[in-house]
Amino acid sequence: MQVKILHVVGARPNFMKAAPVMRALASHAGVSQTLVHTGQHYDANMSEIFFRQLGLPAPDVNLEVGFGSHAVQTAHIIMRFEEVALAQQPDLVLVYGDVNSTVAAALVCAKLKIPVGHVEAGLRSFDRSMPEEINRLLTDQVADLLFTPSADGNENLKREGVAPEKIHLVGNVMIDTLIRLLPETEKRRPPVMPAPQSYGLVTLHRPANVDAPEMLVKIMGTLDEISRRLPLIFTIHPRTRQNLQNIGFAPSQASFTLIDPLSYLDFLTLQRHAKLVITDSGGVQEETTYLGVPCLTMRPNTERPVTVELGTNILVGADGARLKMEVARILAGESKPGAVPPLWDGNAGERIAAVIWNFRF
Ligand code: UD1
Repeated sequence: MQVKILHVVGARPNFMKAAPVMRALASHAGVSQTLVHTGQHYDANMSEIFFRQLGLPAPDVNLEVGFGSHAVQTAHIIMRFEEVALAQQPDLVLVYGDVNSTVAAALVCAKLKIPVGHVEAGLRSFDRSMPEEINRLLTDQVADLLFTPSADGNENLKREGVAPEKIHLVGNVMIDTLIRLLPETEKRRPPVMPAPQSYGLVTLHRPANVDAPEMLVKIMGTLDEISRRLPLIFTIHPRTRQNLQNIGFAPSQASFTLIDPLSYLDFLTLQRHAKLVITDSGGVQEETTYLGVPCLTMRPNTERPVTVELGTNILVGADGARLKMEVARILAGESKPGAVPPLWDGNAGERIAAVIWNFRF
């Protein structure tokens, strides 16, 4: 059997999800793979360095869409990806996660009647004010193969009327990458490397937290205060950096370090040794759960409830007082215990490859 598979990635969190699937499929003779990068993320430290560290091949095609409003970005991906899909005629297109590139490529495939598989299907925050939630809902409605990371995903999809035979519980591909590359962090020295357990790590980039100046001023004030008790390292996403410049923020403490986005391995090194992590990222909630590092998520909800039910994650919302209280508890040695969810075992990519291999094209 000859099967032609096309992978679509665009933004930073897609890269660590595609890598294990491409590796697993590479071991099947008869599968040919093409990698399309939409160019949604284009800075070297948001894209290129990830390709290198994850061992991803250079993209075969780059759509170079860059930044625009959600409508403009999504429309450009749709127009440019349609040409690629028509020229390549793949048997299956795989899309990852919940970014604009994911929904744009899935929609193109649905219209061209090309089967599409969604890796990380079924996650729901039930918060339609988040662009990612819209992307998840629409992608799952048009996908033919839905690969879920946890059982809650299966329940959500069935409730939305997705045929059960399309849904495959495979586990978490992001954790595949973490497990494979964790040994490489043993001797690594990121640009900032405090002693283990002596610092907190911060990432924030959700529009709800960083786009409104009043909210960002409040959050930065709280973090500045926390850094008096626990040194903080804040790795700053490009959208957050722009907004911090707009509000003219500067830390009052030398113990509050602001740095550019880090490579995958540097960030993972800092994560595994952190006393705690403060974030609004989806992937970081999962990685901290696997690593057993306390995670305080600055969101009112999560599409990854398993990280709260089983893992080390606590939702603190935008409540500064709650955040300070949870930090104090962790510093007092009262961290919430956590367990690794089922099937977060490093073999999700292999399970996806097996399902695809048995799919009737
Ligand atoms: C996107 C995803 C989000 C994901 C995040 C991870 C959507 C809807 N959102 O959000 O789910 O968690 O990626 O990082 O797809 N920029 C640069 N360089 C880059 C990329 C972006 O400077 O390489 C700037 C853009 O010009 C823009 C801002 O960062 O001002 C936001 O980029 P955008 O792609 O719109 O979304 P993210 O916030 O990165």
